Amino acid sequence: MVKGSLPLFLAPMAGVTNSIFRTICKEKRADVLTTEFVSADGIMHRNARTRGYLEFTEEERPMGVQLFGADPERLAEAAKQVRDWVQPDFIDINFGCPANKVVCRNGGSSLLRDCPLLERVAKAMVQACDPLPVTAKIRIGWDERSVNAVTTARLLEGAGIRRIAVHGRTRAQGYSGYADWEVIAAVADAVRVPVIGNGDITDASTALRRLGSGVSGLMIGRAAMANPWIFTEVKHAFEGKPFVAPTLMERWDLVLRHCREEVGVRGETHGMHGMRGRLMAYTRGMPGARPLRASLSKVATLTQLEEIIGGHLDSLGSIDPLDTVHGGEPEEASFASIEKRS
Ligand SMILES: Cc1cc2nc3c(=O)[nH]c(=O)nc-3n(C[C@H](O)[C@H](O)[C@H](O)COP(=O)(O)O)c2cc1C
Repeated sequence: MVKGSLPLFLAPMAGVTNSIFRTICKEKRADVLTTEFVSADGIMHRNARTRGYLEFTEEERPMGVQLFGADPERLAEAAKQVRDWVQPDFIDINFGCPANKVVCRNGGSSLLRDCPLLERVAKAMVQACDPLPVTAKIRIGWDERSVNAVTTARLLEGAGIRRIAVHGRTRAQGYSGYADWEVIAAVADAVRVPVIGNGDITDASTALRRLGSGVSGLMIGRAAMANPWIFTEVKHAFEGKPFVAPTLMERWDLVLRHCREEVGVRGETHGMHGMRGRLMAYTRGMPGARPLRASLSKVATLTQLEEIIGGHLDSLGSIDPLDTVHGGEPEEASFASIEKRS
């Protein structure tokens, strides 16, 4: 039975959602993609690395660029420049990043504590980008004593923001605890613009449960890092079609393809080094994950990776089927990399 359907958004994730990974997720049926957060100041300084974050292919559309910053004029100017450089389908503002480096400069989730500034930022960007839509991504509040997502969303709607993604955690929670979908549902009820629900969607059954929350779309982040097929699985569930999970061989083929493409862009040393954390995510749930992770944590070349994969497939008969790693979320390591970024 078809239970309903909602568009699926790949959550922006710094150090993760580059063009290569976004394309993989699109092929697996993510509908809407966004770059990772990009500093408005980096854009104003014409920083080459920042320019790299903006690149995308036509196949990735509809495609958004997410900006962060705190100064309304600079954000508005950066948004105009991005619009003229790469013509995205929308510009997204980050009001959710919890990283100290961003918050201490009054960016990301820090603006949830300063509603007048948040409103000025939104208005300035909407005005600067018109008619290009500007969307926003928020958390439900700064901490549990100041959950203000409904107020924030109303302000954003009034400022002309065209869609609001809500991650159902406070800044203080970071990535711990659970996303509060009751607050997400209250936001969806309070505004007329589409609200996209985000937080802890790990499989088709959690996605189906969220159909009842009144949101206009679902956004998936960490689960896609381990398993980009989650988009296909959820779409099949929406369509009432059975989903056949990928075989281990198919999963390894995807990992190899991802690594080869990274190496093609960044060279073998940087490409493989940068993929180590991602390999940890990809092995989640695989049999014999513990010894596998130990070898993958040191992998330096594509040939080594091929050997590790070959060894893993050969040894499957002798692997303890209970030796899988389901937890060990990769976000802490990845957040260290956000803290390092400007
Ligand atoms: C490694 C990592 C990087 C992230 N970077 C961003 C970012 O650049 N911009 C943003 O709005 N959210 C960022 N987030 C938050 C995610 O977009 C998402 O809101 C969060 O992971 C909750 O969704 P999930 O439970 O589906 O993972 C990041 C999350 C992770 C784990």
